[in-house]
Amino acid sequence: MKVEGENYTTIWLDKNNDKVVCVIDQRFLPHKFVIENLTTVNEFAAAIIDMHIRGAGLIGAAAGYGMYLAALESKEKESFDEHLILSADKLKSTRPTAVNLEWAVNRQLSAIAKGNSIDEKITIAKDTAGLIADEDAQYCRRIGEHGVKIIEQISKNKNGGTVNILTHCNAGWLAFVDYGSATSPIYEAHRQGIKVHVWVDETRPRNQGASLTAWELLQQGVPHTVISDNTGGHLMQHGLVDMVITGADRVTRAGDAANKIGTYLKALAAFDNNILFYVALPSSTFDWNIKDGIKEIQIEERNSDEVKYMQGLCNGELKTILVTPLNSPAVNYGFDVTPARLISGLITERGICEANEQAILNLFPENL
Ligand code: MRU
Repeated sequence: MKVEGENYTTIWLDKNNDKVVCVIDQRFLPHKFVIENLTTVNEFAAAIIDMHIRGAGLIGAAAGYGMYLAALESKEKESFDEHLILSADKLKSTRPTAVNLEWAVNRQLSAIAKGNSIDEKITIAKDTAGLIADEDAQYCRRIGEHGVKIIEQISKNKNGGTVNILTHCNAGWLAFVDYGSATSPIYEAHRQGIKVHVWVDETRPRNQGASLTAWELLQQGVPHTVISDNTGGHLMQHGLVDMVITGADRVTRAGDAANKIGTYLKALAAFDNNILFYVALPSSTFDWNIKDGIKEIQIEERNSDEVKYMQGLCNGELKTILVTPLNSPAVNYGFDVTPARLISGLITERGICEANEQAILNLFPENL
């Protein structure tokens, strides 16, 4: 996707040194575009924990590249296997909710195990990291191709009038390798000349909507308006939202979807107002081992300072300010679960299905 007219993906190998992985450090967006070089597993783990890189698909791809660096490091250790397993555990423990991370680490472990020598294992790890990233981009592109049909239909129903889409958090190309999940149908609609406008939830506490989704849409020239998190229900009651599309961090085989905190409230408001509510995800976001999202998905609790403080630009400098009384306690749940019954459908790389086990398995029969 474009940044100031230049093409970027969110993660890539340095073209002069294939032991260096480059990422966009999202902590500084939308005000500064900073590229960070990662060279060790520890740097990767810190970048994920401190959210230099974030978003389910991207942390999956990052875990893939992190395991490649782990393989390189393991060559220098007394026991290759021991360091590899320690690194895998370290990466898996960085963020618990997004299943893509665990999925990518496990995929790397199985792939690397097939190598007959240490050098072969390293080559496999590098190739697999590239494959995971490429697949993520391809799957997101296909999500766009399927999802755009819903937007097209709404546009036809409105005689070509603007389709108003509400989204929460950032399930855009910054959260994946390219295209994004929730944004991919929007980018495709815009590309095809269908009139779209996006309501961007600010998404407290870290404001991924206000700072990342808004920045992405601006870069691609997609009309949008940033709203405070509490505004969506009001807009829906007044006919100003045609559909909601969100991403997901983990979706059960029965269709319950964990996504950024606040998503559930948007789904309730959409349900009450009879508005379509879609969840877009690549298949790496399904957790095939669980059904009941509320009981079985571990919700990440993050540092309460993310609630108490906000970051922004002041006189040209990035500043952090306290917005609560210093001594008021705060709590910071990162995600919530939207039950399948509130979801109109799931947009995946293989097509769109209802959010129930039978319909999901019809698309992904290998997980029966
Ligand atoms: O905590 P984050 O920023 O990593 O949150 C994850 C998300 O980006 C959202 O929940 C998103 O909608 C999921 S799709 C990447």
